Amino acid sequence: MRFEEAKQKCEKAGQGHLLAYFDELTGEEQVNLLDQIEKLDITLLDLLKKDSKEVEKGILEPLGAVTLEEIQQEKEEYLQLGTKAIQAGKVGAVLLAGGQGTRLGLDKPKGMLNVGVNKELYLFEQLIHNLMQVVDQTGAWVPLFVMTSEKNNEDTVQFFKEKRFFGYNEEYVFFFVQQMAPSVNYEGKIYMEDKGRISTSPNGNGGWFISMANAGLLKKVKELGVEWLNVFSVDNVLQKIADPIFVGAVLKHQCVSGSKVVAKADPYEKVGVLCLEDGKPSIVEYYEMTEEMIHLRDKQGKLLYNYGVILNYLFSVEALEKIVNENLPTHIVEKKIPYMDETGNVVKPEKPNGYKFETLVLDMIHRMDNCLSFEVEREKEFAPIKNATGVDSLESARVLMKKNGIEF
Ligand code: UTP
Repeated sequence: MRFEEAKQKCEKAGQGHLLAYFDELTGEEQVNLLDQIEKLDITLLDLLKKDSKEVEKGILEPLGAVTLEEIQQEKEEYLQLGTKAIQAGKVGAVLLAGGQGTRLGLDKPKGMLNVGVNKELYLFEQLIHNLMQVVDQTGAWVPLFVMTSEKNNEDTVQFFKEKRFFGYNEEYVFFFVQQMAPSVNYEGKIYMEDKGRISTSPNGNGGWFISMANAGLLKKVKELGVEWLNVFSVDNVLQKIADPIFVGAVLKHQCVSGSKVVAKADPYEKVGVLCLEDGKPSIVEYYEMTEEMIHLRDKQGKLLYNYGVILNYLFSVEALEKIVNENLPTHIVEKKIPYMDETGNVVKPEKPNGYKFETLVLDMIHRMDNCLSFEVEREKEFAPIKNATGVDSLESARVLMKKNGIEF
């Protein structure tokens, strides 16, 4: 893109400041900035103009889960079905590690967080240990696709190499980089990282499948004969990956997707709840629920909107391919965004100072014809590390790691 075109594009969108320092840049920096402006999806900024920042929900109804008791009864059959699928190479795993973990405030990939006390134990390492249990149990390597972002790809790949993939078979690990989106201040002006770089951030975890496709990895998926992908987050130390019982349950119930869920700790717990929206599976956020929905109970007194998602989903590849070109809703998320101020200094804010644009994996569930809600024990499978202290922190995760006999 030439300077004149870039100037026109920016000014038309009220973003003329992006070129304010153009004359001070080196030739290479100028080319890079023009390239960034060319790729910039300016239409995202229109979303800020809408009155309502969130997408309106359709008609919601509760969705029950296969409960812990039911799973216990069917366990053998689920296990057999799942194990067979894994041994046939039909199950792959996708580690979502493109996020920036701003709440935790780490300046490296979240997976490089050392969760150990008496020894080093990195988040990535513990996740690989969890996956190794399945490999040992089934005798088959599970292909692992790792999503990173432009911001953390180099560090992540380097770390895996340095640590020799924590004992995993590196032939079965595939990295891919997700797409980026601009970050803006509360007035909708795009931030600059420095004089020659627009501030961008990973565009949410909803783009994982299209990013995998863009990276040419669908060919690999086909080559390996993978028919199911288990998507999971980087920050849950107790994450069970490619869990044969979960896989078997989804197969047995002939669903095209499945979600691990936990029963709510209390009606007001801040979790997204798996339910039905206009007859299709969907996740309703806690702030989208009415008081009536929150307290709705069945005859036994059990909450009807009871099952919270924990970012562990299983998708059929065939179902994913059908929706790969569909746009997911974009969420406008308030975050802490480092930026360059008017005097050219780089500022690292202490509190949120603007918005990022993200699509979310949970919105993919609504595109599926059905989704098996699969209950798991919170204390055994859910120890997310989101915050520096308090709820969902390293401290709370360590308590649960100890309970589960993990040495650290
Ligand atoms: P979170 O919603 O916790 O976001 O991600 P985050 O960016 O890691 O952390 P905060 O909100 O800034 O503190 C849930 C999962 O989705 C991944 C994360 O790495 C994590 O595993 N993710 C998130 C991506 O892979 N890409 C993204 O753009 C965002």
